[in-house]
Amino acid sequence: MDASSPIMSWLAKPTLQQPEYPDVAHRDRVLDKLRSLPPLVTSWEIERLKSLLADAAAGKRFVLQGGDCAESLADCTPDAITGKLKILLQMSLVLVFGGHKPVVRIGRIAGQYAKPRSAPTETRDDQTLPSYFGDLINEYEFTTDARRPNPQLMVRGYQHAAMTLNFIRSLIDGGFADLHHPEYWDLDFCDNADLQQEYLELVQGISQSIEFMESVGEAPIHELTRVEFFTSHEGLNLLYESAGTRTVPRRTGYYNLTTHFPWIGDRTRALTGAHVEYFRQIRNPIGIKVGPSADPDELLSLCDVLDPEGEPGRITLIHRFGAQAVQTHLTGLIDGFQNAGRRVLWLCDPMHGNTRSTKSGRKTRDYEAILAELDASFDLHRNHGSHLGGVHFELTGEHVTECTGGARRLTDEQLSANYRSTCDPRLNYEQALELAFRIARRIRSTPATPPHANDSEAHAQRSE
Ligand code: PEP
Ligand code: CO
Repeated sequence: MDASSPIMSWLAKPTLQQPEYPDVAHRDRVLDKLRSLPPLVTSWEIERLKSLLADAAAGKRFVLQGGDCAESLADCTPDAITGKLKILLQMSLVLVFGGHKPVVRIGRIAGQYAKPRSAPTETRDDQTLPSYFGDLINEYEFTTDARRPNPQLMVRGYQHAAMTLNFIRSLIDGGFADLHHPEYWDLDFCDNADLQQEYLELVQGISQSIEFMESVGEAPIHELTRVEFFTSHEGLNLLYESAGTRTVPRRTGYYNLTTHFPWIGDRTRALTGAHVEYFRQIRNPIGIKVGPSADPDELLSLCDVLDPEGEPGRITLIHRFGAQAVQTHLTGLIDGFQNAGRRVLWLCDPMHGNTRSTKSGRKTRDYEAILAELDASFDLHRNHGSHLGGVHFELTGEHVTECTGGARRLTDEQLSANYRSTCDPRLNYEQALELAFRIARRIRSTPATPPHANDSEAHAQRSE
């Protein structure tokens, strides 16, 4: 490990949520191996996403980011991947045609394998073991061997991310996402007649519009129907992230080439901490999760460190306050950023502030609370002359029973039927699709706000 490389400067800073690998020589061999492997994404894809996110910050696009809380290596199967891609594409279809804005699609996929935990250890009966930190770090099974951090899992994670991404790219190139083939986009697990009807009408409308445009031969139809898809994950394990960070020919700076869009978790965004030191050095667009502990001034200082130039598309703030607290926290944040003239992209994650435990101790989230936080976020942004540029969900393409409510009115008692997440509860296929329709209506009914008047001037003053 070359500790003198700028990309390793985080080693000198206080670290949080990092695995302690018992065999350091093994760890270093694995990191050398990772550094020798080809990258998973390219710098031009990353720069392309940055420009799309800049558009979204300016109100011209809407971002849909979603996927598992924690991807598992075992779920790297054709069905699971197709299922996730399909629900994200279907949601984006609803958002584009219902909300009248182009959608930027970003999966929490192909690398979302490392999880921050509230407690470093877990106790069952009289045994205490390290917590499960995601398949990149250790295994879920509650045994000493499984829970010991294993560096080899970093190579396995990288390989599984590559396989996942390879399959996604092939599906998209092969026409899976092509709007000429709405038959690939039929509805699964959807009993809700209203939702089915609304979706059917939308798909028929799209097919007719495409036929019409092709028959008049005007629009470059391939451009219109081409789908771009980007990947994201929490950049948690800094050894892994920095092993995948490289310089590339004809561009300056470092790129994290394991993903297009890495984000900093709410627990690891300390201004003087190792994660911020690492993220400061990379050229990717970056997300910052923002929970109730965030203070507007501290976040502005964080943006000054991570984005000293105010580069368009560089910073996305993903707020996750919970339906109860969003009003109090978001208002102060929007005001603080507007007064400082700092333009960012705002995304709402209505999942992580709305987690609760059932009587039997299961983690769940209520559909209504998720919707309430989304609704409040749209309103608060609009009322403050700002705008919500996208959404961030934990969801799956399968018919799991992890979140309550939705069209089937899932209750606490019904959650055990098919609760599969090893981490946070996800929206199932039908709940996710239903939400997309609700959001599309909101985008349509929320008039675009002009960019904040004194943006660049105020930013110039702040930098002085
Ligand atoms: C997550 O997105 O799974 C997560 C842990 O989020 P946060 O950092 O917002 O708590
Ligand atoms: Co989560």
